[in-house]
Amino acid sequence: MQALLSQGMTPEDHLLDIGCGALRLGHKAVPYLRPGHYWGTDASLALMRHGRLTELPDPARLPEDHLIEDARFAFPGIPDTITLAIAFGVFTHLPHADLATALTNLRRFPLMRSVLFTVFLSDASGPARQPDGVVTHPDRPPYHVPESSVLGTIRSAGFTPTRSPMLLPRGQVLWVATPPQIP
Ligand SMILES: C[S@@+](CC[C@H](N)C(=O)[O-])C[C@H]1O[C@@H](n2cnc3c(N)ncnc32)[C@H](O)[C@@H]1O
Repeated sequence: MQALLSQGMTPEDHLLDIGCGALRLGHKAVPYLRPGHYWGTDASLALMRHGRLTELPDPARLPEDHLIEDARFAFPGIPDTITLAIAFGVFTHLPHADLATALTNLRRFPLMRSVLFTVFLSDASGPARQPDGVVTHPDRPPYHVPESSVLGTIRSAGFTPTRSPMLLPRGQVLWVATPPQIP
């Protein structure tokens, strides 16, 4: 929530929570946003539906069909109204090519202001110890990537990268990708 608020999120925004899992963010974002303004995707529909019923103070604020099973970052059925997107702790567990796919497919949202996501950073060609002790890898989860790769992937997808100084759990680094339609 803090990361999104620092991007100027208001209750009027339409949020896409990519890899939203059991609604760890959703249980705060759904009550904050206007009803119907939260959309979530995840590889597991069951996990999202369980989160909706067990984690939300008022599940009626989140229509069940706003939780969409999508393991390919294709965002099927997500409306053009989306203004902010976040993928927290998702690309930390997936090969870097998935970030490129997601960003490319996020270009179709005309009102998007910012796309936020986290990764672990390291130039190491083998295991690396992150600042809080978690060990990451170049070729298996949890993954790390060189900062230059993140910058290149964001730019190749047509976005402008900004590395956030915000300190996150487990040493993840927050990135903000700004779409080309935003001056
Ligand atoms: C570490 S959890 C983070 C969940 C949530 N964003 C949070 O902050 O609590 C990673 C999530 O990514 C989802 N996931 C894994 N592979 C995925 C894929 N290919 N497409 C979409 N979601 C995926 C998992 O099901 C899981 O819910």
